[in-house]
Amino acid sequence: MSDYIEIEGEKPLNGVVKISGAKNAALPQLIATLLTAEQCEFENVPALEDVSLTLHLLEHFGGQAARTSDKVKISVPHLLASEASYSLVKALRASFWVLAPLLARGRAARVALPGGDKIGARPVDMHLEGLAQMGADIKVKHGVVLATAVDGLRPADIQLRFPSVGATHQLLMAAALVPGTSIIRGAAREPEVEALASMLMQMGADIEGTGTATIIIRGKEELGGAKVRLIGDRIEAGTYLLAGAAAGGSVRVNGVNPLHFGEFLDLLSKMNLDLEYGDDYVQVTRAGDLKPVDAITGPFPRFATDLQAPLMAALCFASGISTIEETVYEGRFGHVSELCRMGAKIQVDQQFATIHGQSKMSGAEVDGHDIRAAASLVVAALGSNGTSVIYEPHHLRRGYEALEAKFSNIGARIGYKITDPEDFVFTGC
Ligand code: EPZ
Repeated sequence: MSDYIEIEGEKPLNGVVKISGAKNAALPQLIATLLTAEQCEFENVPALEDVSLTLHLLEHFGGQAARTSDKVKISVPHLLASEASYSLVKALRASFWVLAPLLARGRAARVALPGGDKIGARPVDMHLEGLAQMGADIKVKHGVVLATAVDGLRPADIQLRFPSVGATHQLLMAAALVPGTSIIRGAAREPEVEALASMLMQMGADIEGTGTATIIIRGKEELGGAKVRLIGDRIEAGTYLLAGAAAGGSVRVNGVNPLHFGEFLDLLSKMNLDLEYGDDYVQVTRAGDLKPVDAITGPFPRFATDLQAPLMAALCFASGISTIEETVYEGRFGHVSELCRMGAKIQVDQQFATIHGQSKMSGAEVDGHDIRAAASLVVAALGSNGTSVIYEPHHLRRGYEALEAKFSNIGARIGYKITDPEDFVFTGC
């Protein structure tokens, strides 16, 4: 059995897309429920595989979760485990973020190291160094982090060498449940970090400076519950806007804060796209030829690395030469080879990609290697002549809720298909 998404390209996209709650906000905020015995309620929760895996993870630790449509109620009255196995962490990298709440609330944790993946080595040294500064005794053996804080964690003044989103999430969660004042310097400024901080404040922590590089946290002995509406997914939204750029037409994304895009909207303007936006929407209209741009990814508010692959796909249709420098991950150009199968002319030299736009793109059979690489192939297929087949669509299920329905509603010819084994004729040895 092989499943795939099939797209017939060159159909302009026109209409409105309702953006779902942010995957990268849902994961840390659901994990933060480990910090309290009281119930937490969430709205605007996306129906994504990573969210289901997170709820499964929380149940492993004693969480009682109930989900109806986009609403989730969860409480963790008692921590019933302190271990996250490699299979759990391998299935969902963000599972590693349970380390801080387990330490802060249960004073002990055994969590498998997440290891690298297709976009890079992705070490977690800053997570471990920060928690050690807060008094945790940390050993790493056979790929597992063994951490204890027998006398409880203590407040600390921590300097991050890079504004790591995950490390900032972990240290925010730890510090929120530690009486006293902790400081995270060089913190990540992403909207998802601000969203986690505002949830922790609702739970009783006193936090100032989120959205800046220095966050001050006055933690508490005990934290209460929270009622949260997840922020809109800026990466899902940006992907739809770039699809509109590639295929032509006018696409409006509702339910997302334009301030959460950082430099991305400036890039869209430079591409000769007409932009309109309000408090909770952005609209992009392609009036004429796409213009090439030079983009550099970076921590928020710079251009988001998670939109790098979809942007590259759209720039294949620009009239000229664009460049993209990927500064966040060492290996996030896995989508280039697949875009080239569709006719793209792209050269890669270490962290730099040069895109010779206006290449006549044609539909092809391609493989989505990871969530954002697969998204870039959807963007490219929508603007390409002919039919494309994108294998490994499960990657898309991790970050794009109801992708086929949302694209069909704005004029795309897109469908999900399953091929039976007998359809394949195995030739050769
Ligand atoms: C989060 O990953 C996101 N994931 C990623 O989105 C996103 O690309 C990334 O932040 C950057 O914005 C979730 O929110 C679930 P980092 P995270 O720690 O926290 C290095 C997607 O497609 N680093 O900011 O793992 C690391 O290797 C995913 O939705 C260290 O060296 O990212 C990387 O090069 C992909 N040591 C860079 O920092 C550390 O201790 C950024 O990592 C931590 C990180």
